[in-house]
Amino acid sequence: MTTKFWGSLCAALLFVPAARAAGHDEDLQVQRAVQVCASCHGDYGRSADSRYPALAGQTRDYLIRQLTDFREQKRSETDVQAYMWGISALLSDATIAGLADYYARQEARPGAPVQAGLQADGRAIFERGLPAQGVRACAACHGQGAEGAAGFPRLAGQHADYLVRQLKAFRTPLRPHGVVMKKETRALTEAQMRAVASYLQSL
Ligand code: HEC
Ligand code: HEC
Repeated sequence: MTTKFWGSLCAALLFVPAARAAGHDEDLQVQRAVQVCASCHGDYGRSADSRYPALAGQTRDYLIRQLTDFREQKRSETDVQAYMWGISALLSDATIAGLADYYARQEARPGAPVQAGLQADGRAIFERGLPAQGVRACAACHGQGAEGAAGFPRLAGQHADYLVRQLKAFRTPLRPHGVVMKKETRALTEAQMRAVASYLQSL
């Protein structure tokens, strides 16, 4: 499956008519790459499958950092190695910036609703943290509505399963930039992770 997508991305990026102006070529490369990304991340980055994170409405700076981290093989969860290393190796800095602009502009779709009790517990963690466990309020960095800003990713509407996987990955050396959340990810129990992730999905 990966090989197939990889092949179509190569074709999409390499087939650019030589005579066009540089800026136009860049737009074309981004448009073609987006079609390949859509096969997993969904049209407009509104992923409907929790294996693939939603990209719509994600912040530009965060997207650039992730795609660069993939290309440099610094972010290295198993699925990222399998799905994102090969693709990102083909992206120039300019195409990465173009892709980040594109996804940052797309309107996020609201996430699937979750069980009410879980949502309330999660909201409390998100807004106030768990001072006794040394967990800071997530909202302090990710924004009141989890909309994100610059290098702090949008979490609102993201698949809960994906969010839980990331909170676990931050405990390992697989996502070195997640070190800013060391205290949060060390102290949260599995149930607390699930609650906060469910709340975020419901936004
Ligand atoms: C074959 C499927 C596939 C394709 C095609 C694909 N991705 Fe991904 N992508 C994934 C998977 C799987 C993950 C995350 C895996 C995990 O960590 O759970 C991911 C993660 C990401 C992330 C990290 C999101 C976050 O919230 O941190 C970004 C950004 C991303 N992809 C961008 C892209 C872009 C841009 C393209 C097109 C150039 C693309 N992907 C093509 C499967 C794919
Ligand atoms: C001190 C600031 C800070 C606090 C507090 C914080 N985060 Fe983060 N968080 C970040 C940064 C910065 C990143 C991006 C890391 C990277 O670039 O890989 C991030 C990334 C994430 C991601 C990965 C998103 C993705 O798309 O892959 C999740 C999930 C997350 N945070 C959840 C939380 C939760 C839940 C809390 C509260 C319990 C929290 N964060 C508290 C700064 C913070």
